[in-house]
Amino acid sequence: MTQACIIVTGGAGFIGANFIHQWIATEPALSVINLDKLTYAGNPASLRAVESNPNYAFARADIGDFDTVCRLLAQRKPVAVVNFAAESHVDRSIHGPGEFVQTNIVGTFQLLEAVRSYWSALPNETRRQFRFLHVSTDEVYGSLQASDPPFTERSPYAPNSPYSASKAGSDHLVRAYHHTYGLPAITTNCSNNYGPYQFPEKLIPLVILNALAGKPLPVYGDGMNVRDWLYVGDHCTAIRLALSKGRPGEMYNIGGNNERTNIDVVRVICGILDELRPASDRKKHESLITYVADRPGHDRRYAIDATKSSDELGWKPTDTFESGIRKTVRWYLDNPDWVQGVVSGEYRKWVETNYSRR
Ligand code: NAD
Ligand code: DAU
Repeated sequence: MTQACIIVTGGAGFIGANFIHQWIATEPALSVINLDKLTYAGNPASLRAVESNPNYAFARADIGDFDTVCRLLAQRKPVAVVNFAAESHVDRSIHGPGEFVQTNIVGTFQLLEAVRSYWSALPNETRRQFRFLHVSTDEVYGSLQASDPPFTERSPYAPNSPYSASKAGSDHLVRAYHHTYGLPAITTNCSNNYGPYQFPEKLIPLVILNALAGKPLPVYGDGMNVRDWLYVGDHCTAIRLALSKGRPGEMYNIGGNNERTNIDVVRVICGILDELRPASDRKKHESLITYVADRPGHDRRYAIDATKSSDELGWKPTDTFESGIRKTVRWYLDNPDWVQGVVSGEYRKWVETNYSRR
């Protein structure tokens, strides 16, 4: 008999890998199949600890490859599909939006088609219990002014970057597949995550690694843009709860209730490093902060109202920013091999592309 399982797409990325680790530790009755294309952001080293676990399997594939996804669904017969796979970095979407449209919109469409075909042929009870969970972002709601209330699930979509527009497109497709075909789909819209295994193109790991290397810490614009930071483990818990308790057709906002300006985040990291890994010349890490040209179209502020997730799913974050950021800095200090594997040729090319003309 096939072992009951879920399929996770994009599980070799930052949040997907954290989700798989958490899933294997907490859900022994359901194994997890990781379908990942292994783009620059997919890193098998993030899954080394579960590689030989009987509850884990890996399939290298593109979510846009309809036939391969159909074959995997038919072989593995998952009770749920959790879709993390995406191009996820805003700056890359500004330099090259095509890949974002391809994976986030066309890829999600092909995945939905494959899942719809699999799901509609399931026996009644299994079909009723099946879930498609689509992992989305708060960026689809656009940008807030300082005095605006946080985004709720009723906030209108107003995406501003090619990344957020492509995520919004995928969210609309997911919504339509529920409305039109009855696919039991749930969408989660989460704020900025941080934690172990994050690729150092994103602010927090970039700042940690640059500071350790004594390199400039690039802060875009005036550094006063605000993000709502959530420790990745809390996001993974929310997704598991949305799978078990969420209502099909619904969206759930997930956020840390933890708004910080970018410059504040950078200073906090510098302070922790001054304590845990003082620079050899004893200079404060803050002295490396360098203001650089702003991101075009840079959203000023995101903030999430997670009341619905709290009321319906019983979800609350457990880490504060202070506890989460300390764990995160320690993780990067304690995992030099993972870091070394990541900051290779392709990464250096990206750093050159994004920062040389700022
Ligand atoms: P990531 O860039 O670290 O990882 C993306 C993963 O998807 C990689 O493993 C990559 O190989 C894989 N992938 C890319 N294209 C693929 C394709 N066509 N087929 C199969 N696999 C493919 O991303 P992340 O930060 O872990 O984000 C995961 C999801 O969560 C994304 O959908 C993102 O939009 C969403 N999200 C991220 C954050 C955040 O702060 N990082 C916050 C809210 C929502
Ligand atoms: O809000 C959720 C989103 O958070 C996710 O949907 C995205 O996938 C994820 O990448 C993240 O998007 P951001 O653009 O907010 O994250 P990033 O880490 O790229 O940037 C965070 C803030 O820091 C943002 O205001 C831009 C700024 N920044 C970023 C970099 C890389 C800098 O000031 N300097 C930098 O070098």
